[in-house]
Amino acid sequence: MRLRSFLVAGTVIAATVTALTGNAATAAATRFEAEAAPAVCTGTIDSNHAGYSGSGFCNGSNAVGAYVQFTVTAASAGVATLGVRFANGATAGRPADVLVNGARVGTAAFAGTGAWTTWSTTTLTATLNAGSNTVRLSPTTADGLPNVDYLELTAGPAPSPTPCAPPPSSSSPSPQARVTVWLAGDSTVADPSGGAVCPVGWGNQFAQYFTGNVTVRNSAVGGRSIQTWLYDPNVTSATGPAGECVINPATYSTRWQAMLDPATGLQRGDYLLIQFGINDGSSTCPRHVGSARYQQLLSMMADAAKARGAHPVFLTPAAALTCSGSTAVGNRGFITETNAAGSAGAVPVIDLHRLSYTLYNSLRLCPFNGDYGAGPAGAFFCNDHTHFETAGATQIAGVIAKALRDQQIPLAAYLQ
Ligand code: GCU
Ligand code: CA
Repeated sequence: MRLRSFLVAGTVIAATVTALTGNAATAAATRFEAEAAPAVCTGTIDSNHAGYSGSGFCNGSNAVGAYVQFTVTAASAGVATLGVRFANGATAGRPADVLVNGARVGTAAFAGTGAWTTWSTTTLTATLNAGSNTVRLSPTTADGLPNVDYLELTAGPAPSPTPCAPPPSSSSPSPQARVTVWLAGDSTVADPSGGAVCPVGWGNQFAQYFTGNVTVRNSAVGGRSIQTWLYDPNVTSATGPAGECVINPATYSTRWQAMLDPATGLQRGDYLLIQFGINDGSSTCPRHVGSARYQQLLSMMADAAKARGAHPVFLTPAAALTCSGSTAVGNRGFITETNAAGSAGAVPVIDLHRLSYTLYNSLRLCPFNGDYGAGPAGAFFCNDHTHFETAGATQIAGVIAKALRDQQIPLAAYLQ
């Protein structure tokens, strides 16, 4: 079990396989910061990506062999556990050799963490001498190391790791477990600002359909495209060569960083529901998002959720009320892109676009005389054909809850 667990963790330390016995769960860890001597960083000590410990981290030069080296002190000779805290905001892994006292004992994968501000700890084991030892992380690809925050030393092998526990079921969550449903979207999803009557997004009325074990965290914001939601306030009004809005600097919004936070953001078993596509159709920056870019950003968000053990769900945009005679018809874009991203990443897609205009038809909101102050359309919509009053938001949220059940999305186990 222990050997398997280390393989699962992405780190193979061949030299220590025979020593993987015993239990050091209670041993105290000693932290060695990468920015503090006697550690050596071939690169720069930076502090521009939040979340590090101490006063900074080692940003190794992007080159093979541009290393970070720690000098650690072991109370006695024997097996020790080394936890390396790192962030890798790139897509590709940043593999590195692990050299203990100059001898290679294994490799660390340093997979992408989703953002430079998202820090993760990888665990290695090594046999140390009593007293001073060097531990060097030496990258094997031209991208160099991830950003490295610190190394923590614990005497003995790693405590019995989580992969030996029964794996959490991804297909049928226990109704007893607490789950957070995170929402990313625009004004048709968002909470009303400052107690306003309009607009009220469906996310504001979603929790009532679930048991008390569900917490809805509504991070939708009015007026946002998928890209401005992800990168506020760094999407500029300049258009780049590929027709996409220039993002400068390429730093995520605080709302997305909050979801990516390992301690307080998306957790294993949580859900992330994503609905954009209304503001993205703008022809001008900063809101404009092209077709390929839209699909790419959706996939990026889904991958980040999955990397944390959370479950992404895509929604096509809620339809505005457009009547063709007595029939409500569709009027939104990015439907193809949402379905394509869903197929590519095996992410469930709730076609809220179709479900919403189907609801408008079942409520007979068409034909519509344009009076938003009276009648069924007036009660459903604010003083426009896009935004919902509480009554409309409640019904849209109900349609989505029903879709969870109809599409057998496992979150449906939490519906009342
Ligand atoms: C970015 C990031 C750095 C990181 C670097 C890299 O420039 O801001 O912190 O080290 O990418 O790719 O290594
Ligand atoms: Ca670097």
